[in-house]
Amino acid sequence: AQTKIDATLKADQPGAEISRYIYGQFSEHLGAGVYEGVWVGKDSPIPNTRGIRNDVVGALKAIKVPVIRWPGGCFADEYHWRDGIGDPAKRPSRKNNWWGGTPESNQFGTHEFFDFVEQVGTDAYLSVNVGSSNPTEMREWIEYLTSPGDDTLAQERRANGRKDPFKVPFIGIGNESWGCGGNMTPEYYANELRRFEAFYHKGKDNSGARVASGANAFDTNWTDVVMKNAVRNMDAISLHYYTLPTANWSKKGPALNFDEAQWNSTFYQTYRMDDLLQKHIAVMDKHDPKKRVGLYVDEWGTWYDVEAGTNPGHLYQQNTLRDGIVAAVNFNIFHHYTDRVKMTNIAQTVNVLQAMILTDKEKMALTPTYYAFKMYVPFQDSTAIPLDVTAPTLIGGKDKDGKDQTFPAFNVSAAKAKDGKIYIGIANMNAKEGYVLNINLGTLKAKSVSGDVLTADKLDAHNVPGQKEVITPVAFKGGKIKGSVLELTIPAKSVVVVKLD
Ligand code: AHR
Repeated sequence: AQTKIDATLKADQPGAEISRYIYGQFSEHLGAGVYEGVWVGKDSPIPNTRGIRNDVVGALKAIKVPVIRWPGGCFADEYHWRDGIGDPAKRPSRKNNWWGGTPESNQFGTHEFFDFVEQVGTDAYLSVNVGSSNPTEMREWIEYLTSPGDDTLAQERRANGRKDPFKVPFIGIGNESWGCGGNMTPEYYANELRRFEAFYHKGKDNSGARVASGANAFDTNWTDVVMKNAVRNMDAISLHYYTLPTANWSKKGPALNFDEAQWNSTFYQTYRMDDLLQKHIAVMDKHDPKKRVGLYVDEWGTWYDVEAGTNPGHLYQQNTLRDGIVAAVNFNIFHHYTDRVKMTNIAQTVNVLQAMILTDKEKMALTPTYYAFKMYVPFQDSTAIPLDVTAPTLIGGKDKDGKDQTFPAFNVSAAKAKDGKIYIGIANMNAKEGYVLNINLGTLKAKSVSGDVLTADKLDAHNVPGQKEVITPVAFKGGKIKGSVLELTIPAKSVVVVKLD
């Protein structure tokens, strides 16, 4: 028998907007993330539009990707935008020092990225080089991109084939400036931010939000110092947090063939996102009580040991049911903090870390993470609604004092979507047990419930390019409305999203 749990939906108490940017992506020049994953070149036999894979664009359109962050990551702080414009035959080849020393051909540069963005129908989030460059390079790239005038940079853009300015709604000023972006202290970075921002000239032509390089995981001191010293020079500050099953960078754990203990430790680690957001938000509230500055979790997701036989610098990993549930757990967490969390970007879109898509030459697989994003599309630009429930806890390991590390067996979120309907998302992290949720609907009148469920028999069920899919969402049959109570029978290890009519 499944455990029955009572919950209450408060549809008459709408909360903050859940920005569509919560569902953002991150695509770095890393491994096969851009080259192969997005860019195959105009002469490739793989179907493409101006060198960009049609299958990948089609798949990303279907999940309504709202924003793509590019070109890094660590790569961004060594990137020189001039390398990637003009005649492709004359572009320099550079060494990608961060990611395996692989040659960077610069065939995918500014114009190709914006072509990709426009084909997908999404927004651009550029990360500019602070760590190894200067404000002039940033200023000139912004002018090249956004100037509507007759100045030389705008004319150069036109000569390279783009008459109108590009739309650049978000610009990151540095990436991981505490680490690969320059090994800075927060005090030093705050000064750099102020200096770069002085030449940013935010205004009519360049209205892009200024995103400060934020903290590594629980380093709230970084957020504190940077906001104290430079709050006026930013519209958002970022935060990076990766889920490592072991929390150990030298042995992170495998993407496939893991056991239930590793499953549970993964969810313990991923659920820490909730505590992490609370801690950074408390610091932000101190410096910005009116919540003008957004918190952008612009890198998150699972990070496992690379697949055997692949280049360790290319961060290629498979993606299983576990990853699909990790994604949904994080969405449900983000939905609770959307008065501050205005954007997140999963790392990364194709072939790198917790990818949406894996490619193998002309073949492509959609991952369980992709399907979680697809199921949650109705939450984009919806209004959060409280759904009160207390889940039993599970154990994800021991801390250094031998104490159990616990996390809730499932988490939930609810919202009123743009179509006027109420949606509920549930991520059940329990590998063995399902639950029956009895949700009191209060004043809400609903006649029917329908939706999708993502689950599988095996913990590491995954899709492989060129092979029949083994994991994909199917219609959810476990919902019933009994008067003012919605009964949902949630299977073990699953993601469920339902709509009430
Ligand atoms: O996503 C991979 C890398 O992780 C990024 O380049 C960097 O910002 C982070 O450390």
